[in-house]
Amino acid sequence: MTGRSVRAAVATALLALAGAAGADLPQGKDSPGQVVFRHESHVDAAKPSCLGCHPRRFSILGRSGEAPRGALTHAAMEKGHGCGGCHGQEAFGFDECGNCHAGQ
Ligand code: HEC
Ligand code: HEC
Ligand code: HEC
Repeated sequence: MTGRSVRAAVATALLALAGAAGADLPQGKDSPGQVVFRHESHVDAAKPSCLGCHPRRFSILGRSGEAPRGALTHAAMEKGHGCGGCHGQEAFGFDECGNCHAGQ
């Protein structure tokens, strides 16, 4: 295997071991619908990187770790915290609620 495919295999194995294919994020007050975060649409299998999000932006320990709760309000995301580090910048923004919230 090349170094790149070894890194890809390790990242995939780590995600599988952790059962971290997706995370149903806990809903805040008046949240219009469940938001599911999917690793598969955020991690490039050919060039996996976890450091863009872990541990600075989101705890890798899941909800048992130190949850960045405040980072998942829209007020904080609009300032670039949590999902707002990319969404509203190089990734789609917050106007289409149904892009993230289920049932919208
Ligand atoms: C685009 C951002 C992003 C990237 C890149 C990313 N993650 Fe995550 N990860 C998250 C979010 C968001 C959560 C959910 C955090 C929460 O529930 O509080 C999470 C949760 C986790 C968890 C906790 C398990 C769970 O079910 O909550 C593990 C383990 C994890 N990620 C591993 C990885 C690994 C390994 C990589 C690299 C291959 C990776 N992550 C790349 C955003 C990311
Ligand atoms: C490191 C940058 C980054 C972060 C942080 C990030 N995203 Fe994304 N996300 C992207 C990119 C890039 C795409 C691809 C779509 C695009 O380019 O507009 C994407 C796509 C998505 C999609 C559509 C694909 C799918 O999985 O259904 C959803 C939904 C989504 N992100 C939700 C979230 C949520 C919720 C968070 C925070 C918990 C988050 N993202 C954090 C970069 C990011
Ligand atoms: C890029 C993904 C994304 C989009 C698009 C998005 N949201 Fe959210 N929103 C989240 C995440 C992640 C949370 C935290 C989990 C939760 O509370 O459901 C959240 C939480 C919320 C909350 C509760 C916390 C707070 O900030 O008050 C409300 C209300 C909300 N969203 C409304 C909306 C509305 C209305 C739209 C469309 C105009 C929208 N959202 C579009 C990702 C998104």
